[in-house]
Formats: sequence, C-alpha cells, structure tokens
Amino acid sequence: MRRGVRSDSPGVVEATRESRQEASTETDRQAAWWQDAVVYVVYVRSFADSDGDGIGDLDGVRSRLGYLELLGVDALWLTPFYVSPMADGGYDVADPRAVDPVFGDLDTFDALVRDAHAHGMRVIIDLVPNHTSDQHEWFVQACAAGAAGPERDRYIFRSGSGPDGQQPPNNWVSAFGGPAWSKISDGSAGEASQWYLHLFSPEQPDLNWNNSEVREDFARTMRFWLDRGVDGFRIDVAHGMAKPAALENMDPRAAESADTSAYFDPRFDNDGVHDIHRHIRAVLDDYPGRMAIGEVWTFDEDRFSRYLAPDELQQAFNFLLSQAPFDSDAIQEAIYRTLDAAGRAGRLPAWTLASHDLSRQVTRYGGGAAGDRRARAMALVQLALPGAVYLYNGEELGLPDVDLPPGVLADPMTRTRTDARGRDRARVPIPWEGTEPPYEFSAAEQAWLPMPADWSDRTVAAQLEDPDSVLSLYRSAIELRRTVLDSTDGTLEWSTAPAGCLAFRRSGGLVCVLNASGAPVPLPEGEVLLASAAVTDGTLPTDAAAWIR
Ligand code: GLC
Repeated sequence: MRRGVRSDSPGVVEATRESRQEASTETDRQAAWWQDAVVYVVYVRSFADSDGDGIGDLDGVRSRLGYLELLGVDALWLTPFYVSPMADGGYDVADPRAVDPVFGDLDTFDALVRDAHAHGMRVIIDLVPNHTSDQHEWFVQACAAGAAGPERDRYIFRSGSGPDGQQPPNNWVSAFGGPAWSKISDGSAGEASQWYLHLFSPEQPDLNWNNSEVREDFARTMRFWLDRGVDGFRIDVAHGMAKPAALENMDPRAAESADTSAYFDPRFDNDGVHDIHRHIRAVLDDYPGRMAIGEVWTFDEDRFSRYLAPDELQQAFNFLLSQAPFDSDAIQEAIYRTLDAAGRAGRLPAWTLASHDLSRQVTRYGGGAAGDRRARAMALVQLALPGAVYLYNGEELGLPDVDLPPGVLADPMTRTRTDARGRDRARVPIPWEGTEPPYEFSAAEQAWLPMPADWSDRTVAAQLEDPDSVLSLYRSAIELRRTVLDSTDGTLEWSTAPAGCLAFRRSGGLVCVLNASGAPVPLPEGEVLLASAAVTDGTLPTDAAAWIR
C-alpha cells in the first residue's frame, strides 16, 4: 500500500500538500502531557541493582534518575514490581497492592515517585487486569472451593469436553504455546475436575471481568497507586479481559499472528472489552492529569481506534512500526496506518520500536554493523513522528539481543514453545560502566542473566563521553525534538523521496529523511540539524537518517 506521493528520481525531497496526513484534532490540542512525551521503559529487573542480589530494583532505578534526566525523557514506565512468584517476570501478580521484596517496599516506591517528580519526570506503572498469579489468594481459594463455589466465579472455570471431560473446553492456545486451559484437581469426591483458562502461562489464570468483585478490586488497585502519586498506567493485554460467553473455537492460524484481527480469534479484542475500559477511565477521571496507555495487538484501524474513544484509553500502543522490516515502503505504510488508526479517534499515536517482549531493533534490522546503523536511523525516524515515543531501556545504548544459553532462560515461553528463543534475549541488564560484566549493574558477581563480555564500548559511561555514540544521538534527538517541533501541531506531510527512501515534514520546518535504498542519496537543501551517520557534500549514506530544516 502506497499512500505518500514520491518520485523515483533521486534528488530533491519536496513536501507535497496532497500527501499531508493530519492526525491532530481538538482533543489532541488540549494540553495533555502524555500526547508528545518521550517515555522511558524501565524493565525493573534489568535496570540497576542497589542491593547486590544481581536483580534490578526500585532503589536502583532511583539511583539512576540523574541519567534519565540527562537523557531528557519526560516519564518512566516501570514494569511490574508487585508481589509475584515471577513465573512471567512479575506479570503474574499475587498481590497488586504490595511491592515484591526483591524490588523493595512501599517506602522505596514512594521515594522513587517523589524523586522522579523532583527530577521533572512522571511515573507510569504497569497494571495487569487480564490475569493474576496462581498464587493470588483468590486463585488459591478458587482451587480449594468446590466447582459450584462462588470463589471460582472470579476466574474462568469450565468443565472439560470429550468423554469424562478429559479434553479442554475449547481449542484455544496460550500466547506462550500449548493449550490455554489447565485442569485442576479439586479433590471433591465424585466431582469431575474443572479446567481454568489462561491465555498466558498456566501460572496466570484469566480473571472473569463479569464478576463485580474483579471490577471493584481493580478500581481499588488503581486508586491505591494514584493516591501514592503515579501519573499513569500501562494496561497489560488491554485487548484481553473480555471473553465471549460461548467461548467458540479460534481459528488455529491466529496462534501464529501478532495481529489479533487477522483470523477469527475470540480470545482477544471482544466488544465487551470497551465497557471495561470505560470502567477504568471513570476511575482515572477522578484524578485529572493522569492517563492510561493500553497494550493493544490489533492492526485493524477501526478496531484499534475504538480503544481511544473519549471515555476509554488516552493512548494505545499500535505495534505496526515495530513489526516493519528495514524497508522504506514497509516503514511508510506502518507510519501511515498507525497515524490513521489513532487519527480515526482524533488522537496521536504512541510509537515504539522496542519492548521487553520484542527482539531488539539492532538485531531485528540485520545485526552487526548494518543493524547498528539502521537502529540509529530508525531512532531519528521515530523521534520525529507526531505523538508520544516509548523507548525501551537499552535501545538508547544500541544494545543487540543476546544469545543466551538455554540453562539461564526464565521466560515461560521457552518452556512451552521449544521453537522459541523467548524474550530474555532483550532483557539482559543495562551495562553502566567498566570493562567487564556486570558493568556496575550490580555489585554481585553475576547479574540474573549473563551479560556479554564485549559490551564495554556500549556502557552508559563509555557512550556519554563519545559524541558519536548512540546515546549521544538519542540525547540530541530528544532535545531537538523538544526545541524544534511544535508540540501542539500533530501534522505530518509526506514528501517525495528517491526510491528506497522516505521523507516527511513536520512542524517547525523539520524534514526527516530515511535512506534504506542501499546507495547514498543527495539530501534536499537545508541545514542538517542531526544525522545518524556522517553527511558529506550533502549526501546521506545508506542505512541512515537525517533531520533537515
Ligand atoms: C504483556 C507483557 C508480557 C507478558 C504478558 C502477560 O504482553 O508485555 O511481558 O508476558 O503481557 O502478562
């Protein structure tokens, strides 16, 4: 799909009125800090360890706030730090209103929020409404109660199918592979064991959002953290939660698709989910200036835009850009569709190229020197786009995926999907300083995941001193974005560009050019504000991007 106007002749890049893409509306223009924020995603376990156990923690984050201020981000998103058996890195929550001792306690959390605010940064925390841990007291009670007990109604229990109920209730598969149902032994004599639904690991039973206690408890959790001063929430699996009453079989092909709208997939994106988002929003509306961003895996523009209705989420992740290969057509299409999807709701997008669930961009774009160059180029593309940008810790250092030995993997996906290398490869701790692992991440000899021996030139300390480092590029881009772009103007105009390139113009006269063509291209006239690779004689090398004015 090609929507931008472009000429195939190399040379001049010109803005064209016809290709102007407007995502800005009255809703967006109303001051809202999140709409063009740069948010830094802290994978707490891997960011900084303050107590020498090899695992990152809240005090570790606190000790590095100066770095984040230097980087120039507006807010942090902290991945889950609640009490958890850590079957899925803390996304299996046993107590959503308490801090797991491995990360600190409530006092540490309060101090972190206070200090982040003092450094001028807001704090977003991760909430997990779709499921709990199997160690959550509700699930323990549900298993202990008989099949008819009201305790079971907080989760999704069903009788099995087939002779004697020995088969799962339907054909749903877990996002981590294997059946989405597990059988419990309820011990009650004569009663057939029931099955419970888990769209993720068996240690993450899905909640029943038709149960009023589930709704009330989630509101209580939100207020608990809002009263402690958090500025927003990242809503985990925000297209989950609602399940159809009939629990119809899914199209098995949906199991392999990142886009839940590609095949019939009743596990996700049911219409009933919007009522849940209105419930969440009603709580937030009692706290002006606070927000929620949802993790929404649907690439259908209309279905996506429904999550951004005025009484639902303020922002939602649309992962199209993170799924695009390093190809100018694919990237342009992803940008166009993302702007369109958010624009249908009168909002601006939240962009992201990376997360704790995805392969890191350096590796995704080909690895090695080419991967490094392309990831730098894409940093300039994403930071020039209208809307908010969510950076995943380590991307500002150009970290690649790490090939980890099987024995150290903690991701539950690697237990159920033997074909999957899992997500730990993008969760290796941050190298801060020094020449050997664990690079001041921790005082322990070993971090919770082994760190590569060749990261000494990717540490924060090494890169802070190097004006050509990835970190210096991110710092300059974040600063320029703030000074050059007009945050109230969400328009983007596509420009003509040579084949294999893309170009767009933003407010403040900023033109971003990406060269993915495999050969150098001449840049349009103008001052080069920033480039991901050296520009000589007005020529942009391949695998590079530049900001021109
Ligand atoms: C989200 C999280 C992921 C987690 C899953 C289940 O996709 O980002 O890390 O495993 O939800 O909670």
